[in-house]
Amino acid sequence: MNQKEFKMKNKIKIIQTVIKPTLEKSLYLIGSDLLGLLPDILKERKITVGGIFLIVDKTVNSLYGQKLRIVLNKISDNLSVSEINPGEKSKNIENLPKIISPFFKTKIFKNLLIVAFGGGVVTDIAGFTASILLRGIRCCLIPTTLLAQTDATIGGKNGMDYPLNGKLLKNMIGTIKQPDLVLTDVDLLKTLSDKEWRNGLAEIVKYALTFNKPVLDNSLIKKMKLKKEQNLINLIYDCQKIKLKIVEKDPFDTLHIREKLNLGHTIGHAIESSHHDKFSHGEAVSLGLASIAFISRKMNLLPERKFDQIIKLLTELGLPTKINKLNFPAVLKSLKFDKKAGTFILMKDFGQLLTGQIVPELLVIKALKQISS
Ligand SMILES: NC(=O)c1ccc[n+]([C@@H]2O[C@H](COP(=O)([O-])OP(=O)(O)OC[C@H]3O[C@@H](n4cnc5c(N)ncnc54)[C@H](O)[C@@H]3O)[C@@H](O)[C@H]2O)c1
Repeated sequence: MNQKEFKMKNKIKIIQTVIKPTLEKSLYLIGSDLLGLLPDILKERKITVGGIFLIVDKTVNSLYGQKLRIVLNKISDNLSVSEINPGEKSKNIENLPKIISPFFKTKIFKNLLIVAFGGGVVTDIAGFTASILLRGIRCCLIPTTLLAQTDATIGGKNGMDYPLNGKLLKNMIGTIKQPDLVLTDVDLLKTLSDKEWRNGLAEIVKYALTFNKPVLDNSLIKKMKLKKEQNLINLIYDCQKIKLKIVEKDPFDTLHIREKLNLGHTIGHAIESSHHDKFSHGEAVSLGLASIAFISRKMNLLPERKFDQIIKLLTELGLPTKINKLNFPAVLKSLKFDKKAGTFILMKDFGQLLTGQIVPELLVIKALKQISS
């Protein structure tokens, strides 16, 4: 069966990318009930698999592990498994030796495939592992959260956190290596908690603000809340396409193009790093978006009306724009570790961003005060 017939038969959406400098080819499939198709997809891609190293989130393993094992056994009986405890703490680089130890029980070191099954924590760890084990092996990501399906598994960035003075500095150790295959199965989202669902919505709002997508339209917000299968497939497909378009233009994040995908993340990451386990990534991004909208308004870039619209949108989706007891000094300290060397991405309008912007520290503090109730 060729790819066209395969796509028609299974009603899936497909995006193919080739990243020019490295010629890495990736295939992104989005649909429902896709898990069982993995053996056929690998066959169709002519990917021979000598062994599988499965890196799986513990909760996801208990929910879908059995189903996945049946599928993986059809591909290879040479399977080793590393189970990851849920949560950002698992991304601590100090955990790496333990995470990869089951890999060395794999019998054949040839044509190996890493399969990641979980949210962004697991796919970030697995992507990184795939880029360093044996100096690089094939990687298939199966994201199971809305955030990982719309963002974390797209575009090849991976990484783990570095522990410093009791804090985890986010994604300080990592590489950019494109995945061979990303299998996005919306059925896996059915067991996601409301909190994790909102987590993913924060990144979707980021796309909307960055690229002026009609997500600001009320009917789309309703659709996002409804979680209908076809709505979801289309929404996730749109997000993946937007991100991949940017990644193709700036795969190594060196041209200030890919940087735009970090809208709200500078302050968001600093909040996340400095408040261990208090906020999820999506909540921190939402607070980061609210802060950046505030700074952009105060710098006379973003009109008041647009600022209000952003706060309303985040609130309607159940995302935080204010929080209790923010530790300002800790956030400011974490900001010093931002990879954009102290600059911010600001907004002039939906779809109009300014990268590399210097913001006076006093204004950053004002923004942090604004989001703390
Ligand atoms: N590489 C990138 O480009 C990129 C982009 C955005 C975010 N990230 C990273 O992604 C991570 C956050 O990812 P996340 O929000 O997916 O968090 P996560 O991986 O911690 O998953 C969140 C929770 O959902 C549970 N879960 C996962 N799938 C489930 C399912 N189908 N049903 C029920 N429960 C399920 C997990 O057990 C966990 O408790 C952060 O570390 C962030 O830095 C990376």
